[in-house]
Order: sequence, then C-alpha cells, then structure tokens
Amino acid sequence: MGADKTDAQALKRQVAQAALALLEDDAATLGVGTGSTVNAFIDALASCPGRVRSAVSSSQASSARLAAAGIAVRDLNEIDSLPLYIDGADEANAARQLIKGGGGALTREKILAAAARRFVCIIDASKLVPVLGAFPLPIEVIPMARNLIARELSARGGRPVWRRECVTDNGNHILDVHGWRIEDPPALERELNQLPGIVSVGLFAARPADLLLIGTAAGVERR
Ligand code: 5RP
Repeated sequence: MGADKTDAQALKRQVAQAALALLEDDAATLGVGTGSTVNAFIDALASCPGRVRSAVSSSQASSARLAAAGIAVRDLNEIDSLPLYIDGADEANAARQLIKGGGGALTREKILAAAARRFVCIIDASKLVPVLGAFPLPIEVIPMARNLIARELSARGGRPVWRRECVTDNGNHILDVHGWRIEDPPALERELNQLPGIVSVGLFAARPADLLLIGTAAGVERR
C-alpha cells in the first residue's frame, strides 16, 4: 500500500473516531451509511459496546458489519424519527453539497439523509473540492432504461459509463458520469430527477450535509 493510501486510511480512522463524540442518546436509532470511512466508524462503535443500541443502514454491507459489531439493525419503517445520520462522501464542496454513490448505495443514502434531522458527513481532506464533478457522478437507473438514460446524459455533455460489475441492493444498475464540472449542483440534481428511469442521482445538493467532519493532517476540522 502506498504512503498516500496509508495516510488516507489514518485520516478516515481519525474522523470516524471524532464522529463518536456526536452520539448523544443511546436509546435513539442511528442512521449509518456505507463505505470505507463508515466502516472505520462502525469499527469505532464496535470498540465501545452499548454506545449505540440500534441502527438503520444504507446497505446490506453496512448492515452485516453493524450486526457483527452487536448493534441491532432496524428497518426504517419501524422507526418514527432519525435524529442523526452519519455517512461518508466521494466529494464535498464548501456548501456541504456532496457527490455520493461510489459504493453504490446512493438511493438508500438519500432516503436516510432525507429522513434524518441531522446529517453529518465524515470525510478525509482529499474529498474536499472547489467544484463537484472530478469524481464521476453515480446515477442509479432502472435496468431497462439504462441506454435511454445514457443518451440523455450524453446529450447534456456527460460521458456515462455503465458500472457493469454492480447490481445495487435495489436490483438496479449504475451509470458513472464523467466529464461534468458541476457549477450549480441543485439545478443539475433537479433536472436529472425529472428523467424517467433514473432512481437516484448521487448529488446531495437539495439536501446537503448539515455538518462536515474533515480528517486533516492537522486534526479534525468542522464545517
Ligand atoms: C457509498 C458512498 C460512500 O459514502 C462514498 O463512496 C465514500 O466512500 P469511502 O468512505 O469508502 O471513501 O457514497 O455509496
């Protein structure tokens, strides 16, 4: 493993550890996202038994990790409120708008972000960008609409690439859209949400994070 990767892993562990301090009510169900930063967070939870009794998760992978850590995994339909949702991101800008879905869990992540009173995004400093879009934008599509949507995205100047190895937890496909510099994230999110066949767009702009916790070499920054 190269030095950069090792450093990024250390920053993920650092920011995951810092997120533990945000947990207040151990009786409340916690929203938990997906990805390597969230895995570090679940591992941190596993080392403090009883800190969180139950969670709803954005993926089968996180649910399995939570269960292995002794945390009961609940269905979102069973709970009336979700005070806090913690998740990572692939990119974040200064307005706390995000690109998510690198791990393919964007639809359930969007649902949990919408359900949560507070959405805290944990990232390492490499994820912070001035303009979203260098990371290809993940879009979950109904399989039969994949080529139709790909043409729509190309007509808007994007270069969609089908993530062939991936079927989402919802049984859908993902197109990763390269080549966009996303100057107005809410407008693009709104426009793409109108296309029949798109299930979710990995832009979290209408519902950005409420707080970014950023792991940096100088410590954890809050925005
Ligand atoms: C999964 C996600 C993740 O939050 C995103 O991909 C970041 O992952 P990592 O923490 O591994 O860098 O959106 O769908």
